Amino acid sequence: MSLWTKHYLLEKNSIFLVIGVLIVIAIGGLVEIVPLFYLRSTIEKVDGVRPYTPLELAGRNIYVREGCYNCHSQMIRPLRDEVERYGHYSLAAESMYDRPFQWGSKRTGPDLARVGTKYTDEWHRDHLASPKSVVPGSIMPAYPWLAATELDFAHIQDDLKVQAQLGVPYTPAMIEQAIADLKTQATTDAPTADELAKRYPNAQVRDFDGDPSRITEADALIAYLQQLGAQVNFKIYDDKANIR
Ligand code: HEC
Repeated sequence: MSLWTKHYLLEKNSIFLVIGVLIVIAIGGLVEIVPLFYLRSTIEKVDGVRPYTPLELAGRNIYVREGCYNCHSQMIRPLRDEVERYGHYSLAAESMYDRPFQWGSKRTGPDLARVGTKYTDEWHRDHLASPKSVVPGSIMPAYPWLAATELDFAHIQDDLKVQAQLGVPYTPAMIEQAIADLKTQATTDAPTADELAKRYPNAQVRDFDGDPSRITEADALIAYLQQLGAQVNFKIYDDKANIR
């Protein structure tokens, strides 16, 4: 059989053709994608990026549970309109400890990648309980149960362990102290705040939900929201690179 008669097989049999096309496309994909898993420069380390504190991780779990990602992305593209609206474009390193990542694919609401420190805790409290109370035209649903529900953090150590198995550098001490760290972060003027800061530099420590008597789901979610995009000090980088 000559080469040409073999090619007839592909031309006359659509199943062979489809399989052939898939193989050719897969080669193109593999050549582009596989090296990214091995090149160290794929994710540059950036100062300030650290794993989530236990309270932030618990908040992130609530963010996922409530499906916030259905309406909010966390990925600012390097396009002028996005950078002017949301701030510095997202860096790969900023989601290196996000498992699974929350880039999202739909923006019914605004991008949240840099919402941290943009508003006060009170604003978030009011907004989550009733978005229309602070943004009259808002179509975001209300989440009034968050502030009314005590946070269940019985499994937070297991959460950290799973993240560690997935490659997030949680140390045995971080896992050991997870519950204590969680309580510390949700307490204004906590005497153990230094301990927490040693493990999680720049963690924001205070009572986030306005109710110091208990730790609620709102505490965790607001702690998570307030650090989004706030870990990297872009002033240092932008001054160095002279970009804006
Ligand atoms: C049905 C879509 C939808 C869902 C689900 C949703 N949001 Fe929103 N969100 C919006 C819209 C629309 C806005 C803009 C209006 C406003 O500020 O309320 C918004 C605004 C926000 C803002 C203010 C952003 C800014 O920069 O002004 C935050 C923070 C926020 N949402 C957090 C959340 C969280 C946390 C959840 C999950 C508990 C959530 N959203 C779920 C639609 C949604």
